[in-house]
Amino acid sequence: MNMMISTLNPVLLGLIADVDAMVTADESCLERRIADRLKPILSTPGLLRGASIQFRQEDYTLNVLYSDPAGRWAIAAVAWLPGQKSSIHDHQTWCAFGVYEGEAVEEYFCATDGTATHCGQRALPTGATGFAGASCDNRQAAIHRLGNHGEQPLVSLHVYGCDLGRGASSVATKFDS
Ligand SMILES: [Fe+2]
Repeated sequence: MNMMISTLNPVLLGLIADVDAMVTADESCLERRIADRLKPILSTPGLLRGASIQFRQEDYTLNVLYSDPAGRWAIAAVAWLPGQKSSIHDHQTWCAFGVYEGEAVEEYFCATDGTATHCGQRALPTGATGFAGASCDNRQAAIHRLGNHGEQPLVSLHVYGCDLGRGASSVATKFDS
């Protein structure tokens, strides 16, 4: 479901138009290109003005901002309270993300015989970006987990090559922690 797109910040609308063109052109290494496109707008004041960002006590919250009517891609603001984390997962499609507010931690995992073991991590402060997925080689992030390890709320923007509007997910496999 799309929010009222007319209420979104024009900078965000510009991102949506550009991602749509990139997806239509089927550019190579799409998730890296989209992460690069995302980076400079993360410091835009009021970027998420007009987007009603919801947090939940039970779990992190995916706020879908725009879902391509053709179902090829979508963008969401993910809201994380302190201590909230994703599953450990890999991807069946591409994704790019950037931190708008707060600080995220991306943990990396190595799979052996179907079991994921922690093999590194990095902090992503406000403005940092990352990507994972199928079309561009990023072996370190092949299996990862994002989360809010800090004491302040975290909001990150995620662009996924799947139809969030119809409940699809970019996740292929979830691993036990
Ligand atoms: Fe992911």
